[in-house]
Amino acid sequence: MNQRHALNLFNFSKNYYSNVATKTLKDFMPSTIGDIPTSPSVTYIQDIISPLQRKVYIETYGCQMNVNDTEIVLSILQKFNYVRTVKTDDADVALLMTCAIRDQAENRVWERLHSLKHQKPQMKIAVLGCMAERLKSQLLEKKKLVDVVCGPDAYRDLPRLLEDMDLYGKQGMNVMLSLEETYADVKPVRFDEKSPKAFVSIMRGCDNMCSYCIVPFTRGRERSRDMESIIDEFGFLVDKGVKEITLLGQNVNSYRDVSNDSEENINGETQLSKGFSTIYKPKVGGRRFHHLLDQVSLKYPNVRFRFTSPHPKDFPDDLLYLIKERNNICKMLHIPAQSGSSKMLEKMRRGYTRESYLELVDKIKAIIPDVALSSDFISGFCGETNQDHLDTISLMETVKYDMAYMFAYSLREKTHAHRNYVDDVPEQVKKERLNQVISTFKNIIREKTKKFIGTEQLVLIEGDSRKSNEYFSGHSDQNYSAVIKKNQDTKNVKVGDFVQCKVVDTSEKTLICDFINLSSITEFNRTT
Ligand code: 5AD
Ligand code: SF4
Repeated sequence: MNQRHALNLFNFSKNYYSNVATKTLKDFMPSTIGDIPTSPSVTYIQDIISPLQRKVYIETYGCQMNVNDTEIVLSILQKFNYVRTVKTDDADVALLMTCAIRDQAENRVWERLHSLKHQKPQMKIAVLGCMAERLKSQLLEKKKLVDVVCGPDAYRDLPRLLEDMDLYGKQGMNVMLSLEETYADVKPVRFDEKSPKAFVSIMRGCDNMCSYCIVPFTRGRERSRDMESIIDEFGFLVDKGVKEITLLGQNVNSYRDVSNDSEENINGETQLSKGFSTIYKPKVGGRRFHHLLDQVSLKYPNVRFRFTSPHPKDFPDDLLYLIKERNNICKMLHIPAQSGSSKMLEKMRRGYTRESYLELVDKIKAIIPDVALSSDFISGFCGETNQDHLDTISLMETVKYDMAYMFAYSLREKTHAHRNYVDDVPEQVKKERLNQVISTFKNIIREKTKKFIGTEQLVLIEGDSRKSNEYFSGHSDQNYSAVIKKNQDTKNVKVGDFVQCKVVDTSEKTLICDFINLSSITEFNRTT
């Protein structure tokens, strides 16, 4: 295989080539050419890439999945001779991993694109992620700020797009969504290798089609990574000293591995929480989220497991009892309500009512008595009345959340709400309602945090407190931030240690603690 041949193939057809992940070089060759190796064609791009090392500057916007996607992109690029730089001065190319969930998120990226272009006009810019998927060629056309556009399922093609830009000065785009891509074989390059915490994507996409949400359009259909590749990655992380793993997915607890047809594979319809429904047909077969959690929590008893972001429909009893039973599955569950009004929930197509949501909350609290709960809320969705808003406030006061992520509704094109409803709550009213929602949460959390005074907590040490190096900082099982006063006995304490400590005071959302002793998940639960 010579280089000229590879180059010809490389220019053969861009569209065809965007399937590099699944095609091999053989697929592109006339049958008269003898036997050629069958490794994926991406390796051949590597062969023709100049030995020059190129420097890539990266910024990530949006959710934790975007952070993990950035680590996947970096892993792909490293194989193609790119190295990361933290300075734009050094960079040949800047990558922006973007978010499209709300208008505000996109505006920040537009501002940044302008400032990068102004600061260093010769630097090439690639827009990745959800904005790339949503805006596609608009990004390339608008003010010529962007050179490459690459959607969430096309990262394997990014080296080719960048190479085309370098060699031929061509703008490039690949925004094809996939039914299969999970990047299961790509080991992400962790940005903070010293952190005892890691994030692993176990599924991608979302089939729920909540009426306000752009995600199903930017991230495509739901698909899960095979369990073996996930467990493999966990093993790698644990060997590196990781003590807390967060499983990630747009609807993480809808995980369903259908890759393995062994007897273990559980048949039958996916069990939903009582009182919940979906707009898609019930999914059948596969190993479910609780099967995965069961395996990994048993295998690594001294590693903490969290997961985000779940949907309330996917909390079957098996999962709740597993969480109760395993000391290393954190007792902090995210159950995004979005609204406390059944009328709004129906318009949002959430698949539950206020009553069925509250029934689920009661059940969770009954099965896992010490559980902490968090939620997302949207203020000012289409047609929301003051009474609907008050229903949200009363839901918050009833459940008493430990954490909440609160947003004003932002109309997204393409969504069901955009096509069918009117965005009729004035911006000022949205803001006022959002402020009331935020202050309701603040009042709840102040009281809740105080209740920890006098309790003992297991905290994973993540570093020194930002405010004072006389304290360590970390998080409790229920994800409360905690600071621990250093003293004579903490001399050997280091990042990645679990420590048992006593809460002596609180400040808004932080637990202020005294050190008791070094510990582990198993030890702590034996002694307390
Ligand atoms: N406007 C405001 N908030 C939104 N979210 C999703 N779409 C929108 C939108 N169009 C919020 C939801 C979701 C979280 C990730 O973002 O609360 O759970
Ligand atoms: Fe968006 Fe709903 Fe899917 Fe969450 S579950 S990503 S809110 S469509």
